[in-house]
Amino acid sequence: MTLILAHRGFAAEYPENTMIAFKEAEKAGADGLELDVQMTKDGELVVIHDEKVDRTTDGTGLVMDYNYKDLRKLDARFKFKALPEKQQIPALSEVLEWLSKTGLSCNIELKNTIVPYEGMEEKVIKMVRDYQLSDRVIISSFNHYSIVRSYMLAPEIEIAPLLSEGLYMPWVYAQSIRASGFHPHWRAAPDQIIKASLESGIEVRPYTVNKDAELERLFRVNCSGVITDDPAKAYKIRRNK
Ligand code: G3P
Ligand code: CA
Repeated sequence: MTLILAHRGFAAEYPENTMIAFKEAEKAGADGLELDVQMTKDGELVVIHDEKVDRTTDGTGLVMDYNYKDLRKLDARFKFKALPEKQQIPALSEVLEWLSKTGLSCNIELKNTIVPYEGMEEKVIKMVRDYQLSDRVIISSFNHYSIVRSYMLAPEIEIAPLLSEGLYMPWVYAQSIRASGFHPHWRAAPDQIIKASLESGIEVRPYTVNKDAELERLFRVNCSGVITDDPAKAYKIRRNK
């Protein structure tokens, strides 16, 4: 079965990368979450997509310039102002603690291509191990050095490179870095690439799949997973397949 991974939680309907988005994604039928991790000045892993807080909160500036306690004062309701309650930027620990009580899996994307957060891999791995989630987590990144490093530190945790462009044989690349799969942009995941990858034992989970026709195609070819902003829609399409 093609798994539904809720991109930044349930970004189509809720403020991305917030607890409300993650909890609603679970209710909507998602099998797992996709979330983005950055690091504060005092070394806390936090769940936010951009290096800066400007787009998604009422604050300004770089995440790496905030102490965690000050970052928590920001409101991450962003364009969903109608929500009655303030939404804080979650600590990764808060999400993993909640997730450990659910049956969800979690794709943790290390956002360390622009800011090379020192020690990020070690911290993420320690936290995943502390919550005993090694078999439910996939670590991904556009920084492939970082995921290879993660694999060397924790071979029990799956890794998957993010690929924004098509490769001729992405499954061979994935195998060469000991990845269990790869996460391509949906335009870089034609049927024949998916088929060849699955036949080689390599999982394919395209991002960010929001169009009905694309979701239908990926369910039809039994792709390993889809990373989507709208897990409710994906769930409905998969059910009616
Ligand atoms: O997991 C893939 C996807 O999340 C990568 O792009 O920019 O949404 O983090 P982005
Ligand atoms: Ca992401």
